[in-house]
Amino acid sequence: MQSLVTRRPDDWHLHLRDGAMLEGILPHSSANFARALIMPNLVRPVIRSVDAAAYRNRIVAALPIGHSFEPFMTLYLTEATDPTDVEAGFRDGLVCAVKLYPAGATTNSDSGVREIERVMPVLERMAKIGLPLCVHGEVTDPAVDIFDREAVFIERLLLPLRERLPELRIVMEHITTKDGVDFVASQTKNTAATITTHHLIINRNTVLAGGIRPHYYCLPIVKRESHRLSLRAAATSGDRRFFLGTDSAPHADPTKECACGCAGIFTAINTISCVAEVFEQEGALDRLEGFIAINGAAFYGRSPNEERITLIRDAEPLKFPTKIETGAGMVTVFDPQMPLRWRTKRADIAT
Ligand code: DOR
Ligand code: ZN
Repeated sequence: MQSLVTRRPDDWHLHLRDGAMLEGILPHSSANFARALIMPNLVRPVIRSVDAAAYRNRIVAALPIGHSFEPFMTLYLTEATDPTDVEAGFRDGLVCAVKLYPAGATTNSDSGVREIERVMPVLERMAKIGLPLCVHGEVTDPAVDIFDREAVFIERLLLPLRERLPELRIVMEHITTKDGVDFVASQTKNTAATITTHHLIINRNTVLAGGIRPHYYCLPIVKRESHRLSLRAAATSGDRRFFLGTDSAPHADPTKECACGCAGIFTAINTISCVAEVFEQEGALDRLEGFIAINGAAFYGRSPNEERITLIRDAEPLKFPTKIETGAGMVTVFDPQMPLRWRTKRADIAT
């Protein structure tokens, strides 16, 4: 039996939803992570600080007894966002980041940004006060092929923004391409990226070859194998600019298994086992702690968690549920199509 001890991990990109879905899925994140950056793309997006405070309260109220878990709140950037409200939320210690969704890019992004010029006053204020911007990095131009949308976003939007506001702290969320890795690696300061569990494990063949598999559909869509290998190299490199943001994003099965299915993959339950397996395959278990528990905290100016977890490698593959039942319907759990052997042991929560 092999085991390793690491600091308790953080998830720097998480969708918790609301209501019955929140109640059903939150325990899986709070069992595995100490803290998470909560995405604001609810059906009624989290736009103002007052919305973030109310949403935070609903999350805390839904936590199972005995789970310690801190939600870090984000605001959803719109063209009407008020820089003063953003700054007030930040000064209160409530708002940890602002999320830029190009309008129409993904789930509940209709209120997002159409014209970057219209949000420059907010971005300038954020640069001044040191509040990070999280970016969904895809163009929405229908003329751009879906597999190229990240690369074109870097060229058209991110590089000019990076030059215009060098002091703005930017996290390129859920990078999916070598272009994303190279962009982040080429920057000397204030730039980082999250990488999801699933983008480390699957490529576009998993979604499309031999039949269409809606439970592997997410945005940005998974790319060809060479991109997956770049992401694995970045994640396991020890470079502090890359850290885990699971993008665990549940949708009830009927909304994925239909003619126009939603984007999102639910990984909260088995993420740590999946990521540990990837790091083992890459011979990089000594760098796992950096990726899941240190680099993200450092970028967001937080101390890493003091609490430790033990990861134990079992001889037999673990059995995770294939689906979970929530008050908002059944949700399919990410199937990494490989045996998972790393299990988490924590002193205070029975697993
Ligand atoms: O796959 C995704 N699901 N990508 C996103 O950008 C949004 C997310 C969701 O909210 O379902
Ligand atoms: Zn997301």
